Amino acid sequence: MYQTTVKAQNHSYPVYIGENLRHRTGEYLSKSYSSILIITDETVAPYYLQDVEKSLSQETVFTHVIPAGEQAKSIDTFYQLHTKAIEFGLDRQSLIIALGGGVVGDVAGFAAATFMRGIDFIQMPTTILAHDSSVGGKVAINHEHGKNLIGNFYAPVAVIYDVQTLHTLSDNEIRSGYAELLKEALLADRKLYQSLIMNQLSSLTSQELADKLVRGINIKAGIVEIDERESGIRKCLNLGHTLGHALESILGYGYRTHGELVAIGLLFAFRVSEKTFSMELPYEQLYTWLKSNGYPLNLPYIEPEQILTKMKKDKKTLRSTIQMVLLEDVAKPSLKEISDILLLDYLDDFLEELAQRNQ
Ligand SMILES: NC(=O)c1ccc[n+]([C@@H]2O[C@H](COP(=O)([O-])OP(=O)(O)OC[C@H]3O[C@@H](n4cnc5c(N)ncnc54)[C@H](O)[C@@H]3O)[C@@H](O)[C@H]2O)c1
Ligand SMILES: [Zn+2]
Repeated sequence: MYQTTVKAQNHSYPVYIGENLRHRTGEYLSKSYSSILIITDETVAPYYLQDVEKSLSQETVFTHVIPAGEQAKSIDTFYQLHTKAIEFGLDRQSLIIALGGGVVGDVAGFAAATFMRGIDFIQMPTTILAHDSSVGGKVAINHEHGKNLIGNFYAPVAVIYDVQTLHTLSDNEIRSGYAELLKEALLADRKLYQSLIMNQLSSLTSQELADKLVRGINIKAGIVEIDERESGIRKCLNLGHTLGHALESILGYGYRTHGELVAIGLLFAFRVSEKTFSMELPYEQLYTWLKSNGYPLNLPYIEPEQILTKMKKDKKTLRSTIQMVLLEDVAKPSLKEISDILLLDYLDDFLEELAQRNQ
């Protein structure tokens, strides 16, 4: 088992990563709680809920299952979680455990952040992507006008990551989370990046994956520790997301997984970086790896103007000019404002190139 520590503004918290940790959840509680509410979704529940419940047999445990998928990050689910917490009699000495992917982590975390002005919560991620969402202390739900618009910064008291739960993930969810790992490596660790794209996803062992997830978490934790509230360097975590988010919003959530669209966003960030800094990045290597690992790289026709409009709606843009995370080199990120005219030009070229290669 690996253990690492993340420093948040108000406290530090341990991250435990290893196999079968869900059977030993009780051992990782740092204090005793008056009661525990485990929140999970309907896909994860039949696989893992009972294991976690059993591992807490010494405690007073309640469970609540929410629907699976992005739709559950809603004000309705949030309210329902509060209702359940009140009905079960949770108090300020209670604990919420979020067992699931980023959706469960975000909505259960936001419920924990707000129930009685905030109670302890533990993240138990069950997707690869959630290695990212469970660390860094952002919790949120969606508003009909946009994703993650209602939320808070609220760090968990621990992250317990049982990598064995990743075996039941679908291929597209594996690709999705792995794209975030590629992103972290591209931001900070050339060697990790090389090792990530030496592997074929289908032949990755649990041990190899755990090793890479720890390194990804350490990169994210390192960035978040310096800039918890996203006033500077944390923005770099948006690499690949300027286009990724815009595509997600235009194509509709669920059309492709988040990370599959971020992967296309990474390719675009490579191309824009090459043009901005007049140099070459290993674009072909990344493209070939993504293709051979089943990432869908084709897109339906979308007007570049429509993409630009969506990018501008993204709350992470600065004033009205798009700020993109670029790479001066692998592991050397740089924030740049790109004018609309240039961006439209780059989008045009990039979409054309993708279309030609995926005819
Ligand atoms: N808070 C943050 O810093 C942060 C960062 C990145 C992403 N996010 C959020 O995370 C969410 C995406 O997370 P996600 O990709 O984990 O999505 P998710 O939670 O919807 O999980 C994806 C799908 O996999 C299923 N699933 C989960 N674990 C499984 C397992 N072990 N076996 C089989 N199926 C399993 C889920 O039921 C769901 O259908 C988005 O809402 C995004 O906004 C938050
Ligand atoms: Zn992402």
